[in-house]
Amino acid sequence: MPLENRYDEIADALAGPGFIVIDGGFPESLTQGLVDSINDRANQLQRAGIGREGDYQVNDAVRGDAIQWLEPGDWAVTEFLSAMDKLRSALNERLFLGLFDYEAHFASYAPGSYYKKHRDAFRGKPGRKLSSVFYLNPGWDLSAGGELVLYDEAGEQELIRIAPECGRLILFLSEDFPHEVLPARAQRQSIAGWFRIQA
Ligand code: OGA
Ligand code: MN
Repeated sequence: MPLENRYDEIADALAGPGFIVIDGGFPESLTQGLVDSINDRANQLQRAGIGREGDYQVNDAVRGDAIQWLEPGDWAVTEFLSAMDKLRSALNERLFLGLFDYEAHFASYAPGSYYKKHRDAFRGKPGRKLSSVFYLNPGWDLSAGGELVLYDEAGEQELIRIAPECGRLILFLSEDFPHEVLPARAQRQSIAGWFRIQA
């Protein structure tokens, strides 16, 4: 079912468990367009770092992906950003989250790379409020690994393991779920994004 017909369901899930897995929310042509976009950029992606400004550093032991921030440009990226902006307003109307903008990057994990358990936001700090991941892996083999694992707020109990299947969108409250990306045997591609509140 298209994303725009699922706003109520999404809002209910975020108000309840705090996360949702959405399959088939985008037209296949758009998903394919995004797969083409990330493939076209394969040699423009740059190794992602951790930390902010002054202490930003690449650290293979924590995070192994290569990224490029999304800018409106090719039609698929523009279309995706526009759909996420509609979702932003729809969630603001339903949940009063005060989501102000959306930032997102393409991410590619080479086989064997991972992202250790981390938080996208810290409680009470301005910034990231709602995390999203949209997977771009046509024909993903479920035995290849690469799952996203969400943990309870304390970071102890595993809540769910989600395979990075093509066309799947995950949303979760950034402050509530420490999470990690398990290593995969295959190249694992996605768009990771964050709806932010105003600082
Ligand atoms: C991230 C992240 C999850 C995923 O980029 O911060 O947690 O499934 N990504 O790729
Ligand atoms: Mn994360």
